[in-house]
Amino acid sequence: MTNLYINTDNSPGTISKNIYGHFSEHLGRCIYGGIWVGKDSPIPNTDGIRNDVAEALKKLRIPVLRWPGGCFADEYHWMDGIGPYEKRPKMINTHWGGVVEDNSFGTHEFMRFCEMIGAEPYINGNVGSGTVYEMQQWVEYITFDGVSPMSELRKQNGRAEPWKLKFFGVGNENWGCGGNMRPEYYADVYRRYATYVRNYGSNKIFKIACGPSEGDTHWTEVLMREACKFMDGLSLHYYTIPTGNWSDKGSSTEFDEAEWFSTLRNTLRMDELIRKHSTIMDKYDPEKRVALIVDEWGTWYNVEPGTNPGFLYQQNTVRDALVAGINLNIFNTYCDRVRMANIAQLVNVLQSVILTEGEKMVLTPTYHVFDMYKDHMEGKLLQTGISGTAPEYGFNGENIPAISVSSSMSPDSDEILVTLCNLDPENSQDIRIEIRGSGLRQYKTASCTVLAGSAINAHNTFDAPDNVKPATLGEIPVANGILEAKLAPMSVTALKIK
Ligand code: AHR
Repeated sequence: MTNLYINTDNSPGTISKNIYGHFSEHLGRCIYGGIWVGKDSPIPNTDGIRNDVAEALKKLRIPVLRWPGGCFADEYHWMDGIGPYEKRPKMINTHWGGVVEDNSFGTHEFMRFCEMIGAEPYINGNVGSGTVYEMQQWVEYITFDGVSPMSELRKQNGRAEPWKLKFFGVGNENWGCGGNMRPEYYADVYRRYATYVRNYGSNKIFKIACGPSEGDTHWTEVLMREACKFMDGLSLHYYTIPTGNWSDKGSSTEFDEAEWFSTLRNTLRMDELIRKHSTIMDKYDPEKRVALIVDEWGTWYNVEPGTNPGFLYQQNTVRDALVAGINLNIFNTYCDRVRMANIAQLVNVLQSVILTEGEKMVLTPTYHVFDMYKDHMEGKLLQTGISGTAPEYGFNGENIPAISVSSSMSPDSDEILVTLCNLDPENSQDIRIEIRGSGLRQYKTASCTVLAGSAINAHNTFDAPDNVKPATLGEIPVANGILEAKLAPMSVTALKIK
């Protein structure tokens, strides 16, 4: 039996809803086919946006959506994506499969999509191959409410009112695909570009600087030292690769327990990365004004056999559900510094919540985890831990924690949501949770929702869309603040304590 405690007197902070954010790039079939089918498509759509995908995403209450990249962002020239479709220039998407990008999905279409699903837009600007002027004009086009060349152009294109735009990224991976810069150089470039990302009227922009890749603490050190006061957020990118080898990452569905184990071990590294980068940020920003924004995370496998290698299309199994559950628990736990995260990517690319094929759509196990965790958004994080020895999951002489957990109290009531992952694919875990705290009201019962797999590679297909889906188990009694439960092998569990 594992003894867990939840301390309702100790809240390290509020879990920003933006931790439950997503990312959509002009990559493979994420935008084209996954979100945008065009107004004349036989696939049911509203203004060109798929109705089925928009409906499913609305249910997740996605708080924020990043666009248009990724590496694509630093090659994107936003003016190519406005105005009459037939006049929009075509370009080559050199990063992702060398396909023709016809720019039919641009600023207006993205803003419309955000409105439809209720997400806050997060736009990533072009530093690598774009000019300061171009970036300045984009923000003016979107947000300026007076008379100016850009607001007039917006009006000509059918949008009289400016949009609200809160989040703006100044470049993406500028240490790599965004210009191969050194941190010393990028820090100055960032300061220059960010100067011209203006606040118009009441629109206040939260500026996000390109942060480190994985464990590159030198990048963080330089950026924080040289540019901290000019930024509101610093990004971090970390992908989970089963083999740790970029040239043969492993399959999304054909894997053994060794790769199950290495995937979960590698994903747990997110905890260490956040701690390391936060330590540096704390040195320059002890007040934690600057947020750490994990705006690309998730699994990255070899592409599905027979698909375009540049499209990054992969399946999604119960292993991905565990990766999602573990990372979201980690982000919750560090909510004092991590105030946004965006899983890569929304539809048909990497660790997606939705896959589509023509008019068909399927929800992945990762979708269900976001659904099960969504009530953590804006919740009060509760100090949660294991008393005594924490159970471990061992394989081939290596051990990792068997249980990942986080809990929060609803902002609107004193209901507690506890989310737990059992990483062990063979053994269940018996747990006992003690709710501690002064003035504690009498909790009586807990509802229990479980997402488990029948095999380590269990997944949903267009023909069998419900192989992996959450099951609601009966109510669990809570007596004197204590409840007991059994976590199924390889499962994600959400307990709502009332
Ligand atoms: O998400 C796929 C790619 O991964 C993004 O375009 C890039 O930023 C990262 O390297």
